[in-house]
Amino acid sequence: MRLFIAINFSAEIRARLAALREELRCRARHGNFSLDENLHLTLVFLGECSAQEGAAAARAMNEVRFEAFSTAIDRVGRFKRDSGEIWWAGLRENKPLMKLQHDLSERLHDAGFVLDRRKYSPHITLGRGVATDAVPWRVEPFGEPVAGIELMKSERIGGKLTYTAMAERVWKMP
Ligand code: 2AM
Repeated sequence: MRLFIAINFSAEIRARLAALREELRCRARHGNFSLDENLHLTLVFLGECSAQEGAAAARAMNEVRFEAFSTAIDRVGRFKRDSGEIWWAGLRENKPLMKLQHDLSERLHDAGFVLDRRKYSPHITLGRGVATDAVPWRVEPFGEPVAGIELMKSERIGGKLTYTAMAERVWKMP
């Protein structure tokens, strides 16, 4: 199974992300846009995993130290790829998020996972293969406290990209 670890948002924040995606869709000639329920922030992509590896990832999630923090989405941007542009919602600089991502990656590395070595660039994908004349834009920042992280399975069910939570680590709010 294909796994990744993500921060999932409340329905309210997802609705605001969906509104950004709609703005992008209106400005695009074509694109493969994320479904409402798939709007998420990936921390670590694990790739193809066995059940044992999934359990090891859940252990790493439970062991990592956590410091309460909030997210603030403040812009829409893009990655230019040969396969087309990926458009995303970007987060304001966030040290606790970067620390969490770093510490989690270290634990997973120690547990034997081979991870992407590129610098982590936090983003919420709004669309892939997007053709548009739009240019990246800023938005009034919005976000919420992060309540936890989830181990997600990614699969195609009847042609539809579907994410399912397999395990979660929820923080106790102060
Ligand atoms: P993306 O949205 O930028 O494609 C599930 O595929 C999640 O893992 C997505 O959020 C995806 O990011 C992320 N991811 C990171 N590295 C990936 C990779 N090499 N292949 C597929 N997804 C990856």
